[in-house]
Amino acid sequence: MAAGAAARRDQGGEKRILCVGLVCLDIISVVEAYPAEDSDTRCVSQRWQRGGNASNSCTVLSLLGAPCAFMGSLAAGHAADFVLADLRRYGVDVGHVVPQPGGCLPASVVIASASRGTRTILHAHGNLPDVTARDFERVDLSQYKWIHWEARNAAEQAEMMRRVERYNGARPPAERVRTSVEVEKPREELLPLMGLGHVVFISKDLAQHFGYRSAPEALRGLHSRVQPGATLICAWAEEGADALGPGGELVHSDAFPPETLVDTLGAGDTFNAAVIFALSAGRSLQDALTFGCRIAGRKCGIQGYDGIV
Ligand code: ADP
Ligand code: FRU
Repeated sequence: MAAGAAARRDQGGEKRILCVGLVCLDIISVVEAYPAEDSDTRCVSQRWQRGGNASNSCTVLSLLGAPCAFMGSLAAGHAADFVLADLRRYGVDVGHVVPQPGGCLPASVVIASASRGTRTILHAHGNLPDVTARDFERVDLSQYKWIHWEARNAAEQAEMMRRVERYNGARPPAERVRTSVEVEKPREELLPLMGLGHVVFISKDLAQHFGYRSAPEALRGLHSRVQPGATLICAWAEEGADALGPGGELVHSDAFPPETLVDTLGAGDTFNAAVIFALSAGRSLQDALTFGCRIAGRKCGIQGYDGIV
């Protein structure tokens, strides 16, 4: 054991999970039914909520009791103050948030249909540059047991992941940092990242873009893109999730539908966080997948995230 690790353990310190990706503002209008174009509808409710895949996953990790940190770009302004205060409120370490002088905080307008449980997202990018491999050099890797990337600026993120691989190469297994990456958007330039993480999450959207009609079909079709020994995971909404483990074993969990479907915004981010939480605690792939679906199912039964545990 390295001296630093020993010292941390003596102080009762636990290694953290870092999520790298987007934080944005979600302006959510809950409506009874999805409105017709050019209509004027009264909402059931409306709220501001911190959003972005990596930031949502941090919320869930924190609620599950895992010490975690968020790394992503932040613009100046009221919306940014709101999301930063909210990250802090959930106990998420914001030491690696990168302030950007230009651009504005990305925001999504979300129409959440109470009757169908759908969430329609209109996302504005905000012209904010993403964090770079240079920013990532400041991360002290010995503090982390797991680092998760939401695929965005792939070339820079690949460089970050290679840095972790080099770090791991010089350390005994117990001190290595495990890595995961989520490729959600079907954008060609993001696909090489599938070849880098120890755990790779792909979305139903991405799978369907490739013409696959189920999670197992997508896993079999895309398995050759991940590195040997990696795990490939694909969530498929109400059908639950499937995974191909390091030895090529196929694992499945059904979904856990809530009594009433309330809010599916961030279900995938919740699933990813819960799977990472379980795997980083040494639980089996089957356990992690089932836990991911159970927590994501609970999330779908409530507005937001408070109450998933
Ligand atoms: P995303 O939010 O990225 O679209 P998915 O829709 O694939 O994510 O859902 C991720 C996980 O959330 C699923 O594996 C499932 O466990 C859960 N989930 C999503 N939608 C539902 C639903 N309608 N009923 C029950 N569970 C759901
Ligand atoms: C949910 C989410 C929202 C955000 C959008 C960005 O998964 O992260 O919080 O507005 O996706 O694509």
